[in-house]
Amino acid sequence: MVASLSRPALTDAVVVPMRRRHLRGVLAIEHVVYPRPWSPALFVTELGQRRDRRYVVALAAHGARPPPWPRRLVVGYAGVLMQVGEAHVTTVAVHPRHHRRKVASRLLVAVLAEARALGAEAATLEVRVNNRGAQRLYGGFGFVPVGIRPGYYAETGEDALIMWAHGLQSEDFAARLRAQRARLEAPGGSSGAPDLHVPWVQGRVGLDAAPEG
Ligand SMILES: CC(C)(COP(=O)(O)OP(=O)(O)OC[C@H]1O[C@@H](n2cnc3c(N)ncnc32)[C@H](O)[C@@H]1OP(=O)(O)O)[C@@H](O)C(=O)NCCC(=O)NCCS
Repeated sequence: MVASLSRPALTDAVVVPMRRRHLRGVLAIEHVVYPRPWSPALFVTELGQRRDRRYVVALAAHGARPPPWPRRLVVGYAGVLMQVGEAHVTTVAVHPRHHRRKVASRLLVAVLAEARALGAEAATLEVRVNNRGAQRLYGGFGFVPVGIRPGYYAETGEDALIMWAHGLQSEDFAARLRAQRARLEAPGGSSGAPDLHVPWVQGRVGLDAAPEG
């Protein structure tokens, strides 16, 4: 049985480039949502490759500390790797407490806009075949399934669905990103569509997001 979810968008979330100081919060989420989390060293290596990698975090205000110094927590992150005119989305993750609040959409808008600015004509990613929630998210950005990589996820033996989005430089794709941006600010929040399976994270909700510092 799947629940119907209608949650308000996290409209105060801001997306900024990922820095080393964000890694504590990033890793806390990484350990909740993935069976084989990336190591701190891997993130540091990725962050060092500034020419062809772009990593961003979503930060959200936390607690009562007022502006101009609100306490901000990392609530999600995403990355993209540029390879010969193609963008490879390497990761997208959101703290389970904030799922269905448009955080991943916000992150994807940011990394795909970066990919366009870097000249990408197309974007690709792998997603677990049974991660139907993520597949729906990617579908909203024009990604379509093109094939399967059997056993791609060595830790669980799961197959990966390969998805591609084409025409990133086209006006159609620009319009798609504009529409997604508009959804982020819509007061109504999520569509209320049923919550589809997202593997691994189910049942692990409740861990506190770590402070950004
Ligand atoms: C997949 C994931 C990144 C989605 O993050 P999110 O911030 O909840 O996604 P958004 O709120 O931006 O979702 C945007 C749209 O995607 C779709 N979607 C996202 N998660 C969904 C789910 N569990 N069930 C159904 N649809 C979902 C919906 O269409 C949603 O719009 P709606 O809520 O208005 O219906 C998040 O569940 C996550 O971190 N999962 C663990 C890590 C992971 O699986 N990453 C992807 C690896 S390829």
